Amino acid sequence: MIKEIALKDLVPSRFISEKVEEIRSLTGGGKAINALSGGIDSSVVTLLGHKAIGNQLTTVFIENGLMREGEPEQVSGLFKKFGIDVVVVDARKEFFDALKGKTDPEEKREAITQTFYKNVFGRIVRESGARFLLQGTILTDVDETVAGIKRQHNVFEQLGIDPQEAFGYRIIEPLIQLRKDGVREVGRALGMPPELFKRIPFPGPALAARVIGEATPGRIEMVRKATTIVERLLKDTGAFQYMAILHEDRVTGMRDGKREFGHQIEIRCWDSTDARTASPTQLPFELLRKIADDITLNVPGVVSVTYNIATKPPSTIEAV
Ligand code: XMP
Repeated sequence: MIKEIALKDLVPSRFISEKVEEIRSLTGGGKAINALSGGIDSSVVTLLGHKAIGNQLTTVFIENGLMREGEPEQVSGLFKKFGIDVVVVDARKEFFDALKGKTDPEEKREAITQTFYKNVFGRIVRESGARFLLQGTILTDVDETVAGIKRQHNVFEQLGIDPQEAFGYRIIEPLIQLRKDGVREVGRALGMPPELFKRIPFPGPALAARVIGEATPGRIEMVRKATTIVERLLKDTGAFQYMAILHEDRVTGMRDGKREFGHQIEIRCWDSTDARTASPTQLPFELLRKIADDITLNVPGVVSVTYNIATKPPSTIEAV
């Protein structure tokens, strides 16, 4: 049983010094490694780990080809400011090879997970000689995995996989007693810039969760372009999460006097507190129209833009 540290009981400075001490003593001078996604959890773990053991910790960012525009550069640039050199590994080909021909949502997720752990990160870990793996698992991940809601999280132990046997390394999870709000406080105390801990949630399978059907490099690029527009235009709405989704079906459109059998983008924008339930944000119609204009003008091949008005449940936040 993991003992929760609730926000009201959290003293960030004390938490940080305790975890730094814990990481130092667990690694005992040995090499450690962690994967940074740019999300709040893995970012806080990266800062804690480097505070604890400095260069004995290698931090890798795996470029899977599924991230948002400029994300690898932004993430490594941010950590550079903290004096941390993030190793960016280009694994785009491996991920797209694994996704080739896959249209079923669960198969796509599984392909990404397997490619990440078994192939890419597994190989990096083996080659690094590190025995310790730092992970940003939080208590909510444990709860949701145990409840069978999430299967994407990295909680090997809770899934009954012995990490020592499966991958030959030991996992250290410094954030496991915290919820998201606690992680944010720790991030703030570590000097993380507000834009990082205020970021909207972004799923592990990244843009592949926003492409219905096969996630090819070209289709990911379309949804990436639409995502940039949606995030730019909706960033000041205060909504919980917003996204663009590329549909599989095509529709007839018309451009420059010619018929165009084009693509469809769906916009979703959610009001929610914990992502368990959510309702569509009542966006001003002019804003929706602006999104549609920007997308049809700037994302080649898109002729239709729709806004989702269903709640979760029965919808989910992501489309895949
Ligand atoms: P759903 O789509 O299940 O999403 O309503 C709930 C919240 O979780 C995020 N999400 C994921 N996060 N791996 C993740 O790390 C995933 O596979 C995944 N699927 C959904 C989603 O963005 C939303 O905030």
